[in-house]
Amino acid sequence: MKEKIAVLMGGRSLEREVSLRSGHRVSEALKAKGHSVVKLDIDEHLVSTLKKEKVELVYIALHGKFGEDGTIQQLLEIMDIPYTGPGVFSSMMGFDKILSKELFVQEDIPTPEFFALSAGAFKEIGASAALDEVVSKLGTPVVVKPARQGSALGIKFAKNASELPSALIAALSYDDKVVLERYVEGMEVSVSIVGNIEPRALPPVEIIAKKGFFDFESMYTMGMTDYFVPARIDEAMTSRVQELAVKAHKLLRCRDVSRVDMRIDAKAGPLVLELNTSPGMTETSLLPMAAAEAGMEFPELVEELVGFALARGK
Ligand SMILES: Nc1ncnc2c1ncn2[C@@H]1O[C@H](COP(=O)(O)OP(=O)(O)O)[C@@H](O)[C@H]1O
Ligand SMILES: [Mg+2]
Repeated sequence: MKEKIAVLMGGRSLEREVSLRSGHRVSEALKAKGHSVVKLDIDEHLVSTLKKEKVELVYIALHGKFGEDGTIQQLLEIMDIPYTGPGVFSSMMGFDKILSKELFVQEDIPTPEFFALSAGAFKEIGASAALDEVVSKLGTPVVVKPARQGSALGIKFAKNASELPSALIAALSYDDKVVLERYVEGMEVSVSIVGNIEPRALPPVEIIAKKGFFDFESMYTMGMTDYFVPARIDEAMTSRVQELAVKAHKLLRCRDVSRVDMRIDAKAGPLVLELNTSPGMTETSLLPMAAAEAGMEFPELVEELVGFALARGK
């Protein structure tokens, strides 16, 4: 038997079901590789359970709040348990679209033009009266998203100024900070990064949602989205999106793994929508798809990520 690994999954996040799918798949892969695995659906006893089980390493298969925002990472640092994936800072920055987009702008990583507002700005200082200006600056549709959420939950496209208030209410029901963003027409690609000292970009995955946009249903229902791996872009564009992804990964001080979602605008070129520090590992997820194209089957991918964490723990 190799190391005893706890796979953290589930929890109360809105992405619970997705995380359970990621977690089960990762656990099977780890078992196949000869590890002893404890699956932990996280709850209020997490810390004492980790102590009791005497795990040597944690694989974080959590998505969303607590698992992806730096909280769990911080607890594992306190407990001196090595864990897979990016650390506290990267998780906090990646999970918050406002913080990460501000950094992208400062470091010349192209990202769609945006404004960030809080619930308080609407409730206490009348931000609603500025929405006409938002529309004239960003054009329509305006993309409205909660700052800290994933799996496209709470994302709405407001076709005009009159649709903005309800889109904002929807986004604000997920988080008290929202991003209002310029809509980007054009191909959607996602570039996964794997690597420890020298992060390497995997082949870009092109995403075509068959209905509407790449929302929760399209992400996790088999057959609802067409994926092309590698994306149908030329070599120069492939290098460009891969370089951008590596730059974003390094900028947020990520390690081990990340996934950078982009859209390619006809004029502006690739624009980074966001960076994920705990990419999905389900049957329909993008990172495993990209890894397979690069010749790495799922168990090898998982084993490589575990290897990075183990090397740190020594
Ligand atoms: N500015 C935008 N223009 C066009 N589509 C967008 C834009 N922002 C997000 N989307 C669509 O919404 C999906 C989810 O948005 P994203 O920013 O990746 O947030 P998350 O995946 O964390 O919910 C994207 O994959 C894309 O299909
Ligand atoms: Mg995304």
